[in-house]
Order: sequence, then C-alpha cells, then structure tokens
Amino acid sequence: MAHRWKNTLSRADVTPKAVFLNRRQLMAGTGAILGAGMLGGQARAQEALEPNSWEEITSYNNFYEFGTGKTDPAANAHMLTTDPWEITIDGMVDNPGTYSLAEILDGQTIEERIYRFRCVEAWSMVIPWNGFELADLLTRVGVQEGARYVAFETLVRPEEMPGQRSPILEWPYREGLRLDEAMHPLTLMATGLYGEPMPNQNGAPIRLVVPWKYGFKSIKSIVRITLTDEEPPTTWNMQNPREYGFYSNVNPQVDHPRWSQASERRVGGGLFARRIPTLMFNGYEEEVASLYEGMDLSEYY
Ligand code: MTE
Repeated sequence: MAHRWKNTLSRADVTPKAVFLNRRQLMAGTGAILGAGMLGGQARAQEALEPNSWEEITSYNNFYEFGTGKTDPAANAHMLTTDPWEITIDGMVDNPGTYSLAEILDGQTIEERIYRFRCVEAWSMVIPWNGFELADLLTRVGVQEGARYVAFETLVRPEEMPGQRSPILEWPYREGLRLDEAMHPLTLMATGLYGEPMPNQNGAPIRLVVPWKYGFKSIKSIVRITLTDEEPPTTWNMQNPREYGFYSNVNPQVDHPRWSQASERRVGGGLFARRIPTLMFNGYEEEVASLYEGMDLSEYY
C-alpha cells in the first residue's frame, strides 16, 4: 500500500459541540456564496462528517448475539465478560497462536478515525472510532506467501449472549475480507469510541471496522482471525446469498433485492429529516476503488 491514510478531522472536531456549530455555519456560509447545488463533493462529504452522539451510537445497534431488536444489544450486552479476552490467530501465518488482548495491543498506537458507517438496512451514522490498522497486526504475525483472504469469528457464549440460544443465525458470526482489503490503511481494529473503551453493544473489546463496506462486514467481539487461500464462508452470505454478497461494498447503484441503496437515513436526524444520498464506497472511492479495478461491481455485490 503506497500511502498511509491520513485523518482529515481531529479530536478537536469531535468536541466541544460549539466546534460543530461553527463548522456548520461555515458550511452554510459557503453554500450561500456558491449556491447549494454547486458545493463540491469534498465540501459535502466534510459537512456530513459530524459525529453522531454517544447516545445514538450506543443505543441503536445490530448485534444479533444479544437479540434482533435495535435496543436489545444495549439492554443485554452488559452480560458479556470481556476481560480476560484472547484472540486465536491461525492459518497461513508465521506466528500462529492464542494471544491475550494485552499482547495484541502491546506497542500499538491507538488513534482516532472519524468514519462514515453505512448499514445495509439503509441507515447510517458518523462514528469517532479509536483503534489501529489491521495491517499492523497482520504484519506482526507474519502473513505467509499464498494467503489471499482473512476470516474472522465472534465468540460463542450462549450463557452470556441470549441471542445465541436461538438459531437465528449460524453461530459463530463469521466475516471475511480479501487480503488486500484487510491490509488497506482504512481497515481498522477498533477498541473504543469517543476516547472511551468499546461499549459491549458495539463489539467490545475489539472489532473490525471496514468503512467502505456495509456494516455487517464490521464484525464485533472478535476471537479468531484466520489467514487462508480460499474465500471464507461469511454469516449473511450463508444466510441469504442472493441478498448479501461476500464483497458488500457500499454502492448506491446496486439495490438490495428488497430496497433501494441510493439513499440513507442518518440516525439522529429527526423524524422529518430528509434522506441523504449514499456515496459510492461510502465516500471512500478515492482510497479504495483501485482494489476493484476490472471487477463488475454489479456482479460482485
Ligand atoms: N457482529 C456480530 N458479531 N454480530 C452482529 O449481529 N451486526 C453487524 C455488524 N457486526 C453484527 C456484527 C451489523 S448488521 C452492523 S450494521 C454493525 O455490526 C452494527 O454496528 P454498531 O452496532 O456498532 O453500529
């Protein structure tokens, strides 16, 4: 990867609230001068990156291990024990093993990344994650020649995860990336948000965040990472291959069989808020489009 991704927004953009208000006024001012329709894509994208509140991010979740309702994870996830925590890293790596979270985090610099987050269900948020690049971890364990994919698994613990007592999905929750997607500097192992440890309902103690893909690719509470030469089976693709592909890149031109993906509802926008247009690769086209050169993106959905 030629470049390391640079965060264009800093902590100062997250707090205090006055900063948001000023920026919004600034953007409104720019719009007034240029005419709203003439605002460049860059300016529009910046304007959209006003993080959702802590409340919104931690009370409206998808985490089927704790139930299928949006408020089930916040209600039930306190039951999950996240310390001690271990991750098994195996398959085509030089240093396979079961590592404690402390070993995984040892020497890692945790940085903040303010990313758009777009669920396949057509709602979205902007989330200030804390974490480190997955590429750093993979480099440390040593990816062997011939590895082409990375598979991830969430823990199975029905005693603490009431959703796992029903076969609503085939447990464990599984996800996967192509190796070059996993090594991309945007791909994050997230350990917190808003500078706080990751709340259980958001995937404590450590989860994946792949901001240009639909949210279900961003697997929570990871206990296994496997390097492999074959495309791994993934939960939603196994559940319904016609509706959920392995790639699942955000693409406003490829509709879900049951609804449009052209626009999205920003959580917290209020009852009468207008839907906002969904951006190609969720606004990260410049950074990631080259990964898919030569692929028909309507076929590899
Ligand atoms: N990871 C696990 N283990 N189980 C899940 O049900 N849901 C996915 C993803 N990761 C899910 C998961 C879906 S559909 C979405 S949209 C995001 O988590 C939601 O992340 P959030 O609750 O932090 O917004």
